[in-house]
Amino acid sequence: MKIFTTVKEIQAYAKEQKAAGKTIGLCPTMGALHEGHMTLMRAARKKCDIVIASVFVNPVQFGPNEDYDKYPRQFDADCEKLEKEGVDAVFHPEPLEMYPEGYGTYVTVESGITNVLCGARRPGHFRGVATVVTKLMNLARADEAFFGQKDAQQVAVVRRFVADLNLNVHVNMVPICREESGLARSSRNAYMSAEEKQAALVLSRSLKKAREAYDAGERSAAALKDIVSKELATEKLAKVDYVDVYTFPALQPVETVSEESLLAIAVYIGKTRLIDNIILK
Ligand code: PAF
Repeated sequence: MKIFTTVKEIQAYAKEQKAAGKTIGLCPTMGALHEGHMTLMRAARKKCDIVIASVFVNPVQFGPNEDYDKYPRQFDADCEKLEKEGVDAVFHPEPLEMYPEGYGTYVTVESGITNVLCGARRPGHFRGVATVVTKLMNLARADEAFFGQKDAQQVAVVRRFVADLNLNVHVNMVPICREESGLARSSRNAYMSAEEKQAALVLSRSLKKAREAYDAGERSAAALKDIVSKELATEKLAKVDYVDVYTFPALQPVETVSEESLLAIAVYIGKTRLIDNIILK
């Protein structure tokens, strides 16, 4: 597996692969890789000739009071996992390589989809995501890009700017990968104590209840949100940030679920902010 740290190296590699007629799949990550990330690598491995993973904790998508400094970094362990999945190349730049002195160009999605859910709570977050993902797609000359459904709003944002900027990249959304307990896998799960991890099961439990109600015919967004909120309220360590339903991927408000919609939640367990969701089809 090749490891590149500079823009020049990844550009040369991607150029070589394209010249050889290969399709390139990109899996952008911030590292601290877990089984959820591996499902992205496997999806890319199945679909593309060449799989490029990026491992980059992107400073511009973190707010001033967020966890940029404390975000787990474990590049050697990440490489071992990527190699096992048959990833061809890893791009692992330093922040100054991506944002050198004088850097001044950002991608801002202004359609309103960044003003709800996490976008409303984390100002500037999706501007940072859209900027880095545009750069990574461009550097890797990606034909396909792979993202997890856990960050469904991120997928909606990426799909929006890929369409708006006419980028020739197909955006794949890979289903949420859960632990056996139901907890959605996340690099931030590592912040939680055993007691908090146990408490965090309330997220998937609440969504499961909503899914059951939906399958039994419930279509009122308010009723579905109520089911989730009531279950979340049973856990004393849980502090709800949001419980909301929007169409997916347009992220328009929903009163009655009549088209593909996203039921998304963000909940603090202690100091750790967790997100989870289900898609109602
Ligand atoms: O989902 C993530 O880990 C990040 O937002 C991404 C897509 C790698 C961009 O930094």
